[in-house]
Parts: sequence; C-alpha cells; structure tokens
Amino acid sequence: MTYKIGFIGGGNMASAIISGLISKGIYEPHEIIASATSERTIDRLRNQYGIQAVIGNLEIAQNSEIVVLAVKPYYLFNVVDEIIPVLKPNQVIISIASGIPLDKLHLKMPEQRVYRAMPNTPAAVNLGMTSLCTKLAENDPTRATVERIFSAIGRYAWIEERLMHAAIAVHGSSPAYAFIMIEAMADAAVLEGMPRDKAYLMAAQSLLGAAQMVLTTGLHPGVLKDQVTSPAGNTIAAIAVLEEDGFRSSIIRAMRAAAQKSRDMEA
Ligand SMILES: NC(=O)c1ccc[n+]([C@@H]2O[C@H](COP(=O)([O-])OP(=O)(O)OC[C@H]3O[C@@H](n4cnc5c(N)ncnc54)[C@H](OP(=O)(O)O)[C@@H]3O)[C@@H](O)[C@H]2O)c1
Repeated sequence: MTYKIGFIGGGNMASAIISGLISKGIYEPHEIIASATSERTIDRLRNQYGIQAVIGNLEIAQNSEIVVLAVKPYYLFNVVDEIIPVLKPNQVIISIASGIPLDKLHLKMPEQRVYRAMPNTPAAVNLGMTSLCTKLAENDPTRATVERIFSAIGRYAWIEERLMHAAIAVHGSSPAYAFIMIEAMADAAVLEGMPRDKAYLMAAQSLLGAAQMVLTTGLHPGVLKDQVTSPAGNTIAAIAVLEEDGFRSSIIRAMRAAAQKSRDMEA
C-alpha cells in the first residue's frame, strides 16, 4: 500500500496538519499514515482521523510519497538514520523540526528533495503561519505540493533560510505574546467590572478582527490605528500610556531575544 503522505511523529503539530489536510479535502484519510512510539497516540490517530497509524518508522518511509519529519528536534537524526536505508531518490522529505538547518538534512539525505517548514500552533485551528525554505530550484514541481500541504493549515511564505530566526520570532513565538496581551486586556476589563468570560471573548475577538483587517485591507497598520484614534478620545489616551511604557520597543527587544536564542540553539 502506498500513501500520499506519511508523518513520522504524530503529536500536536502533525495532528494539526493531518486535521487540516483531511478537512480541506487535500488528502483522504486512507491516503495518510503516521507513526508514534506509544499505543495511546496510535489509537488516537486512528480514532480521531481514520488514518493508518503504526509503531515503526520504516513503514512510513518505505510507503509514503512524502515523508514529514514531525518528531522533537533532539530525536530527528535518530529517526533520519533509521529511515535512510529505505528512502528513495527524489522522495520528498519535509522537516518541521525547529533549529535543524537544511545543510544538515542534505548531508544525511543528499538524493532526496528536502524541505524545511516552520509552522505555528494556530495551525490547530487552520489559522497557522508557516515559513518554508528549500535548496531546490524555484520551478521544482514538488514545491506546489508542499504549498498545498501548508495552505491546509493557514498561510505560508517562502523565505531564505537565513531568515528562519526572524520567522521564529515573528510567527513561531508570537502566539504567546498575543496570549499575554489577551490575558492582560481581559484583566483590565475585569478590573472595570466586566465578567471574565466576556472579557476574554472581547479581547480575543478584537485581536482577531484587527489582524484580519491588516490582512484583508492591505492598509498600513499605522493607517488603521489612526482610523480608530479620534482627537482627545479614549484610544489616544491609551496609546499615550503604551508609548510612555515603551510598548513598541519592548516587543522589538523581546523578538530580538527570541531570534538570538534561535541562532544560539542552531549554532
Ligand atoms: N508545536 C509547535 O508549536 C511547533 C511549531 C513549529 C515546529 N514544531 C516542531 O514540530 C515537531 C513536533 O513537535 P510537537 O509539538 O508536535 O511534538 P509532540 O506533540 O511531542 O509530538 C512528537 C511526536 O513524536 C513521536 N515520537 C517520538 N519519538 C519518535 C520516534 N523515534 N519515532 C516516531 N515517532 C516518535 C511522539 O510519539 P508519542 O506520541 O507516542 O510519544 C509524538 O507523537 C518538533 O520538532 C517541533 O520543533 C512544533
């Protein structure tokens, strides 16, 4: 039996991608296989998605047109060493492991078509952002397939690999910054008397809406900000405090720290 796509590792990120692929109709459940180390995960994958799931990575590598490496980075090369003997020339390999550069993957798998992808957790609700890079030519026919896979869980962007650290800061870690902002906004609303559940709804929906406006209108975020900022109004009063407290520079410094940490971890 040949599968269109096989996942080595069936945890959070693999599950998000599998869910997107099935719900968007990109692959049927019977075209997908995944591996894990525990019976618990195997059962979950079978029951939740109706896909084939096994303990054993060779079966995935041998029988899948595309292999997605979705284990934690520290297991990645053990897995690669295990599957190398059964990989076919030109087989598509997509690594989603953070901090593993293409050079190291190519060294192990010189005959395969290797991609590196960096998705983020909103992939679980089909609003993910994935950065993609490869050393393959721009007209390589397998690129479109890789794009289809990651468009199933949100949006994607091709980047040069040297920008992967910036990508980690701007979309890998940033859901955490947004969660803190939502929590803080809700706390402030609660302080003003808003019930907690409504405070979370209002804060989260407002950030979602603001992000959607940036994407849909294509307007500069500063222009959109100016549109909600009336003279001597509530919003400018809040913005003045944010600026006094170094809101922008705090975000910039935090993201530089994330990018630097990513550089250090890859070195
Ligand atoms: N989560 C994120 O936000 C995110 C974002 C970008 C990139 N990534 C990358 O995605 C990868 C997976 O992360 P995750 O959050 O999905 O991790 P996870 O939930 O811990 O899943 C890891 C999976 O790998 C399986 N596994 C472990 N050793 C294995 C082996 N030797 N052979 C086959 N399967 C094995 C585990 O099996 P069991 O379930 O049986 O233990 C588990 O299903 C990581 O490399 C991470 O850097 C994650």
